[in-house]
Amino acid sequence: MEKWIKTDVIMQYPEVTEEEIKKALSVCISGVLKYLDDFTDKFPYAASVDNFYRPCENKGWTTGFYTGELWLSYENAQNDADKKRILEVAEAHVRSFYDRVEKEIDVDHHDMGFLYSPSCVAAYKLTGSETGKKAAIKAADMLIRRFQSVGEFIQAWGKMGAEDNYRFIIDCLLNLPLLYWASMETGDEKYRDIAEKHIHTAMNNVIREDDSTWHTVFMDQKTGAFHHGATCQGYKDGSAWARGQAWGIYGCAVAYKYTKRSEYIDYFKRVCMYFLKHLPSDLVPMWDLSFGETDKDTEPRDSSSAVIACCGMLEMSKYMNEEDSGYFTAVAKRILKSVIDGYAVRDVNTSNGRLLHGTYSKKSPYNTCTPEGVDECVLWGDYYYMEALNRLLNPDWNIYW
Ligand code: GLY
Repeated sequence: MEKWIKTDVIMQYPEVTEEEIKKALSVCISGVLKYLDDFTDKFPYAASVDNFYRPCENKGWTTGFYTGELWLSYENAQNDADKKRILEVAEAHVRSFYDRVEKEIDVDHHDMGFLYSPSCVAAYKLTGSETGKKAAIKAADMLIRRFQSVGEFIQAWGKMGAEDNYRFIIDCLLNLPLLYWASMETGDEKYRDIAEKHIHTAMNNVIREDDSTWHTVFMDQKTGAFHHGATCQGYKDGSAWARGQAWGIYGCAVAYKYTKRSEYIDYFKRVCMYFLKHLPSDLVPMWDLSFGETDKDTEPRDSSSAVIACCGMLEMSKYMNEEDSGYFTAVAKRILKSVIDGYAVRDVNTSNGRLLHGTYSKKSPYNTCTPEGVDECVLWGDYYYMEALNRLLNPDWNIYW
């Protein structure tokens, strides 16, 4: 039976080497290039089927990750011909994102940051794309429309003010860098004000006493106080959905980056240590962190949680004291070594994704999700895997978030 590891043994695991990182990133870029024609006019769907993504329109919350993979490939491509080819497709995608927000196609939800930071903000940062800039500012405008002043949070899903959706979710912390960017670019503080209010509400309500996190938090529509927590994609309400905890890790890091509030470093440590204490022996979590201690240890992994957590640790390491920074960087390097060895696509003929063994939504008797993408590639897993590799190779990387 597989047991949770003890965090003090993590340092006994081998650390990924620079050569391994370079090789892994080069395999990712080969995969991007091999299937580029399939995903020029279309985007990959959120999760693969038998490790192959089907093409889909620019809809849903995940297409920005694929364009983000293109930008990471563009930044790391080894020759000018590949760079040029990737750039052309990435620019076409940015036009698609502009159209999407202009025509308001499936933008009535909080995932504007996931969609527009790695696609359009990245385009603007890397190439000065005016289309990218305009699209991302429009996306920020859409996002702030979802702010609820009673409770001070951005409503995640559904009709604004609906009783059964008066809630935010932990994932939203990664949508907020778009708002900070919009304030910096426009000089208008309204985006930052809303981001800051949401962060404050989230940080005060999403972390439980034992340092695990709620996936979704309902607020009281009259008083604005915490009403109750609930899961959607975790195993059950009181358990810790692995990806939610990972969004919390990266979310605390970006919250600190933009606010510089020292308590967010403490929150990061709490949330991250909970995650690390609930890893199985290969350092890649099962889809819910409650698995691993009991006979439920045969549950599928969610490799995407591992790489999101690595990116969060590498981001937060920039702002911590030397000892903590060294520790979390070293942990990220060990998790990434296991990811490369056991979870990454090695032969691009066997999958058009980068990272195997992700779990999008697994149905349990106690959760409310629609099942899909179990033990498959998931688009954000591919993206954050590349981001983590890129971060280690280029520590001064100008992040898209
Ligand atoms: N943000 C949705 C998910 O992580 O599945």
